[in-house]
Amino acid sequence: MNVMTPTREQREAKLEGMGCKRKRVEDVRFTQGKGQYVDDVKLPGMLHGDFVRSPYPHARIKSINTEKALAVKGVLAVITAETLKTVNLAWMPTLAGDVQMVLADGKVLFQNQEVAFVVATDRYAADDGIAAVEVDYEPLPVQVDPFTSMAEDAPVLREDLEGKMVGAHGPRKHHNHIFEWTVGDRELTDAAFAKADVTIKEMISYHRTHPSPLETCQCVCSFDKIKGELTIWGTFQAPHVIRTVVALIAKIPEHKIHVIAPDIGGGFGNKVGAYPGYICAAVATIVTGKPVKWVEDRMENLTTTSFARDYHMTTEIAATKEGKVTGLRVHVLADHGAFDACADPSKWPAGFFNIVTGSYDFPVAHLSVDGVYTNKAPGGVAYRCSFRVTEAAYCIERGMDILAQKLNMDPAELRLKNFVKAEQFPYHSALGWEYDSGDYHTAMHQAMEKIDYAGLRREQTEKREAFKRGETREIMGIGVSFFTEIVGAGPSKNCDILGIAMFDSCEIRLHPTGAGIARVGSKSQGQGHETTWAQIIATEIGIPADDIMVEEGNTDTAPYGLGTYGSRSTPVAGAAIAMAARKIKAKAQMIAAYLLEVHEGDLEWDIDGFRVKGLPEKYKSMKDICWAAYNSVPPGMEPGLEAVSYYDPPNMTYPFGAYFCVMDIDVDTGVYKVRRFYALDDCGTRINPMIIEGQVHGGLTEAFAIAMGQEIRYDDSGNVMGGSFMDFFLPTAVETPHWETDFTVTPSPHHPIGAKGVGESPNVGGVPAFSNAVNDAFSFLGSTHIQMPHDYWRNWEAAKALGVTG
Ligand code: CDP
Repeated sequence: MNVMTPTREQREAKLEGMGCKRKRVEDVRFTQGKGQYVDDVKLPGMLHGDFVRSPYPHARIKSINTEKALAVKGVLAVITAETLKTVNLAWMPTLAGDVQMVLADGKVLFQNQEVAFVVATDRYAADDGIAAVEVDYEPLPVQVDPFTSMAEDAPVLREDLEGKMVGAHGPRKHHNHIFEWTVGDRELTDAAFAKADVTIKEMISYHRTHPSPLETCQCVCSFDKIKGELTIWGTFQAPHVIRTVVALIAKIPEHKIHVIAPDIGGGFGNKVGAYPGYICAAVATIVTGKPVKWVEDRMENLTTTSFARDYHMTTEIAATKEGKVTGLRVHVLADHGAFDACADPSKWPAGFFNIVTGSYDFPVAHLSVDGVYTNKAPGGVAYRCSFRVTEAAYCIERGMDILAQKLNMDPAELRLKNFVKAEQFPYHSALGWEYDSGDYHTAMHQAMEKIDYAGLRREQTEKREAFKRGETREIMGIGVSFFTEIVGAGPSKNCDILGIAMFDSCEIRLHPTGAGIARVGSKSQGQGHETTWAQIIATEIGIPADDIMVEEGNTDTAPYGLGTYGSRSTPVAGAAIAMAARKIKAKAQMIAAYLLEVHEGDLEWDIDGFRVKGLPEKYKSMKDICWAAYNSVPPGMEPGLEAVSYYDPPNMTYPFGAYFCVMDIDVDTGVYKVRRFYALDDCGTRINPMIIEGQVHGGLTEAFAIAMGQEIRYDDSGNVMGGSFMDFFLPTAVETPHWETDFTVTPSPHHPIGAKGVGESPNVGGVPAFSNAVNDAFSFLGSTHIQMPHDYWRNWEAAKALGVTG
């Protein structure tokens, strides 16, 4: 017996390819405190820049006096809009086709807006300089409420747009209006409502919140005057796009700009946009000739860089009395703050909100979105969701619960009745998407069985009776959420950023000894790409994942990619990786055929190499082939073993999931306890189940935070609340519930490995599950809809309004 010959299973296990719970290779450095973040970049003679910010949300700037600040020890320069005008950089273009002040030009439009940039030898001196800058403000009337933003007497916020009644996305109806976006068939939808047995209508708000990554936004800019080259280390989710934007607006040739995104401590959408700090640090390094670092503090991050959500969704559903949905009508009032700096693909002013039909077979639907300006921070990012998908999922999942309540039907049963059926895929939704694959019924049944849904409902009925008899002060809610995500922006036919198609890329180079490097256009912010990308390659070409180094984030070395956000990495970059690997495999097959002296067609792939069909002992491993690629390739073939792929996906991918939350709420205190949270995710082929579980845990924790307390609020005078972790709810291990995870696998038919994204799903599906649990708990007391976030205070307020507590 040959004990040395490894079995198929052993050979497969050695690769640690797809499906393996491979430990995260990046954690070796992270757990030892050896990650290299932007703030670890320390260059000789480096200066520090920091902002003078406005205490007013809306004010005219009468003067800025920098004299005293320039006299502060260590202060070298104070940059204002007037300075930036000399280089035509006082305003910058936004991703949404608007323009944004880099530094306040004539007036300020939101509290904490950047007014001047103080450059000094260290942060302390910069801070002293900031205190010495004298700004004379004349306060103006403040517009905080989006619902009155288009009132006749609402103050003019954007004086720069006065008289311009056409914006980047069509006509503007009012001086504070940004765009109107409509999708679907209005007439058919109206007709469906006219003949419906049952209709519901509710204004469902998704409050303003913030992605709040642990590492704030920051950069170091260093200009080499001799070479005319600008190097920027930054917390960028899309480094190549930043390079192109800098080239376009600073007029520096693109090849002379080096953008490096080192390790990033969380992004969640916050690090997609371009911020005044980047522009000011770049100008400051050019002006001073010294490297300049800009690092946001927590308050700056929460109150000025990209917020999320702030969508107010008037939701109407039409249905038959048996509970079959017949129409959906949604109007959204979108509060974009002072500038439309929403990070969406160019043609999508409200992102992919038209996924709002969700997992249900709506024959007709109509959607309209009005974007408005207010005196709030700009932004509007996909906080761990594909563009505006979490708002859409919340809207439809609350809507379905409200409909179930009106029909006196179980919310899970209503969903089962209306799901798109497995045989309907690819499914064309009433609002224009083609869902690639799904099996919603199987997932829902599996979930209901696992949590014993029927048992929970029985328990709830008993508890409600006990509550009515006065035996308990606790009410029980069961939150049901079934979401369909749309991730993987995207096909170049409808997705671009500033005209650049949203493809992604991978370059693989194998070395003679059978090890290699993969450079990818995506950029991990903690998602574990270094681990999982190597797993795709391991399965595709039989080289152990441990022998593949993955590199991202350096525009000098990585092929051009559109970056990482909206769970696009696996659907787009992941596909590019598989395609590049397949090009390598095709060449490897030719080399193997040559070495084995057979025709290519006589070979078959066997885990980690090629075998001659019918002669299994005639075999060349990928390791052998790598060596041969550098010394004995077939005549006429170029040596080496490398390939590049730029992948333009034919469609998005549509992951889905069934989430259930069981919650108990004390009506006298509003204190809630999440008793169970079960999450079933289907993200198609699973690359690394352990990383998927980690993604789900993280996303659910964010969803919990958002639904149950996290909020960026403004008072009537425009003061921003929630600007520190004292007020902004960031759950720790103490508050975080226990997560039960589960899965089904419905591969994407168009993705090379059948994988769909997963990172965003738990945030998208989690928020409605929590909110539906709270609403379900209160529903038997006569409540239809309670707005998020559901913190203790608001729960108690809700109980009070329903007359069950004093
Ligand atoms: O774009 P982003 O990396 O944020 O999201 P993603 O594509 O959903 O991937 C998040 C992490 O989960 C990556 O490390 C993926 O490789 C992993 N993943 C997986 O193992 N299997 C999937 N089907 C999807 C994602």
